[in-house]
Amino acid sequence: MTINVGIMGYGTIGKRVADAVILQKDMKLAGVMAHSYNFRIRLAHERGIPVFAQSEETRKVLKQEGIETSGMTDDLLRTSDIMVDASPKPYGLANREKLYKPNKVKAVFQGGEKDDVGQVSFNAQSNYEDAVDKDYVRVVSCNTTGLSRSLQALHKAFSIEIARATLVRRAADPSNVKRGPVNAIVPAMELPSHHGPDVRTVIHDLEVFTTAMIVPTTLMHLHTLHVKLKKQAEVDEILDVFNRTTRLMVMQTSAGISSTAGILEYAKDRGSKRGDMMDLAVWDKGVGLHHNEVFFMQAVHQESIVVPENIDAIRAMMGEHDAHASIVATNRALGLHNPERFDY
Ligand SMILES: NC(=O)c1ccc[n+]([C@@H]2O[C@H](COP(=O)([O-])OP(=O)(O)OC[C@H]3O[C@@H](n4cnc5c(N)ncnc54)[C@H](OP(=O)(O)O)[C@@H]3O)[C@@H](O)[C@H]2O)c1
Repeated sequence: MTINVGIMGYGTIGKRVADAVILQKDMKLAGVMAHSYNFRIRLAHERGIPVFAQSEETRKVLKQEGIETSGMTDDLLRTSDIMVDASPKPYGLANREKLYKPNKVKAVFQGGEKDDVGQVSFNAQSNYEDAVDKDYVRVVSCNTTGLSRSLQALHKAFSIEIARATLVRRAADPSNVKRGPVNAIVPAMELPSHHGPDVRTVIHDLEVFTTAMIVPTTLMHLHTLHVKLKKQAEVDEILDVFNRTTRLMVMQTSAGISSTAGILEYAKDRGSKRGDMMDLAVWDKGVGLHHNEVFFMQAVHQESIVVPENIDAIRAMMGEHDAHASIVATNRALGLHNPERFDY
């Protein structure tokens, strides 16, 4: 069976998920919605991707620019089994009510939306099964995805008593010049920050508390974690668990990868499209122990980490019960560095 996927919101996340869909053997990109005319839509058109117009005005502008659309919103909904909604918050919720429900089309939403936009929140390695056959699923945010990957692995292996994390968040995506430049560190005045409770939407029994701050960088987020384990573990055992965890890459400090810039340089040199890093990156030399408390640092490429999760959410919602099969198929198609990892 081929799954026809439509994309609503062709920005940072939407364009990446569209490219990821094209790479899956069991999926077809039905088309992308153009909210306005811009270079992303022009490139999609030049690559032969069907473009649909969100309004009559957009259709006219696109036509003036030489882009013949394949139809309007209703047309894309008709030819799609499932929509990936990557519009800015809170349009996903409005789209669910106005577009997806009346047209009986399933939809994957993103982490900017409130968690009740979906029947479940989703992280493939934590709760794939919860999304099977669902109509509306929310893939958790980039930060929550990163936290869920490492914490789920440690929780499964050693049982976590409590996880505490401080999130050092990038101020804006690189191309988002409207939100920069920023010359300040902005502490989040909420305790816990919303990330901790969000992790619990996918790992329900985890005790976790987070704080956050925004810093003047655009490349990646960085998290420092202090995690109290119920079972005693050595540093080597912790690294071994991380090395067996899907979509998590232990970065070799001795190879000169000592910053978020180094991680993205590595991703570019590996030939990753757009220089994306879909794996969560954990520095080997950053892992340490004090009694039964493990300390480590991890980096999250906000623009791409949720892309494989969107693909697995699509498969689960379309009835694929086998989480392992979906995760490996996605990893292989996207060229993740160790696609066959079984432990998640
Ligand atoms: N970027 C990240 O770091 C990141 C990471 C994880 C999750 N997310 C989440 O992913 C979602 C999308 O974020 P993004 O960063 O991809 O946003 P983005 O780069 O701003 O892209 C949003 C896209 O949606 C279009 N759009 C605007 N208004 C719309 C509407 N009313 N209906 C449909 N489409 C509309 C925009 O078109 P125009 O160009 O015409 O405005 C643009 O193509 C958000 O929930 C966000 O929280 C973002």
